[in-house]
Amino acid sequence: MGLATGRTPLGVYTRLTELHKKGEMDFFEVVAFSLDEYLGLKEDHPHSFAYYMKKNLYRHINIKRENIFRLHGTPEDIDRHCQEYEEKIKSFGGIDIQILGIGKNGHIGFNEPSSSLSSRTRVKTLTQETIEANSRLFKDKNEVPRFCLTMGIGTIMEAKMIILLANGKEKSQAIAKSVEGPITASVPASILQLHPQAKIIIDLEAASLLKRKNYYQWVYENKGRVNDFLEKKK
Ligand code: F6R
Repeated sequence: MGLATGRTPLGVYTRLTELHKKGEMDFFEVVAFSLDEYLGLKEDHPHSFAYYMKKNLYRHINIKRENIFRLHGTPEDIDRHCQEYEEKIKSFGGIDIQILGIGKNGHIGFNEPSSSLSSRTRVKTLTQETIEANSRLFKDKNEVPRFCLTMGIGTIMEAKMIILLANGKEKSQAIAKSVEGPITASVPASILQLHPQAKIIIDLEAASLLKRKNYYQWVYENKGRVNDFLEKKK
C-alpha cells in the first residue's frame, strides 16, 4: 500500500485500526510505503509524516516493522535516497493500492502544480499556499518546512489502484478541475483521468462544483444492477 498523511485519511486509518482490533483485518503481510515527507524533519519530530503514520496507524496494527518504508527527512544523499525508494517499491512488485488526499491547488503527494506528469520520487519546493495550509499544526509559521520529498506523479500512476479522498467545500474546486477539467500539469490530480483504476471518494460538499454530479449519483445508484438487468432480459 502507498499511504498519504494529512487530515483527510485519518478516518480511514481509524477504521482500519477498528477492523484490525475486531480481528477482521490482518496487516501481517502488508507492505507500506509513505507518499511523502518534509525535508529536514527527523522521524521523531511530531510534525514529520513518519511520526504521523506511526501515531495514527502503524502502532495500532500488526504490520511488521521491516515492511514499513518511508522517505527520510534527513537523507545523506537525496538523489540516491529517492532512487533507492523507487527501486524498493519495484522490488515488491509495485504498489497495489495508493491512498491519496488532494491539496486545494490540486496537488497529489507534494507534486505541486507544474510538476511533470511523469515525475519520479524527488525533492520539491512547496508552494506558499501549501505552506500556509500546513502551518495550522505548527506553533510558528516560520517552522513549516519549505522542502519535501515526494513520490512523483509517474510513480503514483504506476499503482494498480488509486483511491483519492476529499471532503469539504475547500476541496470542491480542486475536485471539479481534476475530474472534469483538462488533463494538465497545472492540476496534478487531473492525471488520474488516465488511470484505469482510480476511485475518487468525496462528500457532497467536495462534489458541489461537479457539473455531472447528477449523472455520477445515477451511476452509483445503478452500480451492481447490470446483472439484474441482464437476468430480466433472459
Ligand atoms: C499528504 C499529502 C498531501 C495531502 C493534501 C491534503 O501526505 O501528500 O497531498 O494529501 O495536502 O491534505 P489534507 O488532507 O490535510 O487536507
